Amino acid sequence: MNELESMVASATADFSAAATPADLENAKARYLGKAGRVTELLKALGALPVEEKKARGAEINAAKTQIEGALTARRQALADAELQQQLQAESLDVTLPGRRRGTSGLHPVSRTLERIEAIFGSMGFEVADGPEIENDWFNFTALNTPADHPARSMHDTFYVDMNSADGSPYLLRTHTSPMQVRHAVQHVKRHQALLQVGKAMPEIRVIAPGRTYRVDSDATHSPMFHQCEGLWIGENVSFKDLKAVFGDFFRTFFETEELQIRFRPSFFPFTEPSAEVDIAFGSGPLKGRWLEVAGSGQVHPNVVRNFGLDPERYIGFAFGMGPDRLTMLRYGVDDLRQFFEGDLRFLSQFN
Ligand code: PHE
Repeated sequence: MNELESMVASATADFSAAATPADLENAKARYLGKAGRVTELLKALGALPVEEKKARGAEINAAKTQIEGALTARRQALADAELQQQLQAESLDVTLPGRRRGTSGLHPVSRTLERIEAIFGSMGFEVADGPEIENDWFNFTALNTPADHPARSMHDTFYVDMNSADGSPYLLRTHTSPMQVRHAVQHVKRHQALLQVGKAMPEIRVIAPGRTYRVDSDATHSPMFHQCEGLWIGENVSFKDLKAVFGDFFRTFFETEELQIRFRPSFFPFTEPSAEVDIAFGSGPLKGRWLEVAGSGQVHPNVVRNFGLDPERYIGFAFGMGPDRLTMLRYGVDDLRQFFEGDLRFLSQFN
């Protein structure tokens, strides 16, 4: 290998060894720079006799062209490598599933509430709404629950640190019954003209679904839970109607004709007589077991009077049931708390 060939070889090796564009430029300077080896050789040409100059010059230029070629190739290789690295770092896997907008769905208890409203709606019941923060009158007194009743204990209820107009503290309603009182009072006011001339007013037929609160927490009790109460008041409404309404409702709700209903004597301050309502399925895992699903009774004369009606003329029944419980039974859920923990893995199963 002559001197020029070995120079080309060493330049090519130096360029290959350059790992970065900066290294490559340094290597280039050693050959093609002002004081580089190729430049030195070209300068030295001047000292040669004219006849040698041409041949030698051509040889050096050929070597220079080779070195420049090696340089360009290495530059390209480094640029390619950099691009490759960048592409890898910013790589996009188009086969990954996209980030979709989440789909929404109804909470299982909301589904139950909608179902309850639809079924009772088909039987001519209106749906009442009312405040979750109540006063003493609507939550207790109007419902024939006197001041010394144990349901008023601080331990049973959440009180708000603020008094209502009558001086008693506001509280989180312990049942949805106060909505019924509000609804009944409004209804009676609307039909005052008829009542004053001794004519019958249209019947009160309403359900009141919503959130309720009590100091209670375990697998079957939550401090916040749902109730749906119903009220039917007229001149000739009896327990027989209550039984028919419940029968229709539960058979439709659970989509089965094989369902038994029984009334068990009980006590509520706002109804007299009162009964717990149990149902038993005719098939399925709970077949034949009596399950308590509602409280009910004939509305107490004191409560009818508080609606602004004459208890000698108007009579009817009220009931209250737990939509959370109904949801558990319908879907086979065993822990009530799951409904209120907000875990999407649980909740999305219902949609
Ligand atoms: N409000 C009652 C409760 O929360 C339920 C009920 C309503 C019972 C109407 C009888 C009649 O316990």
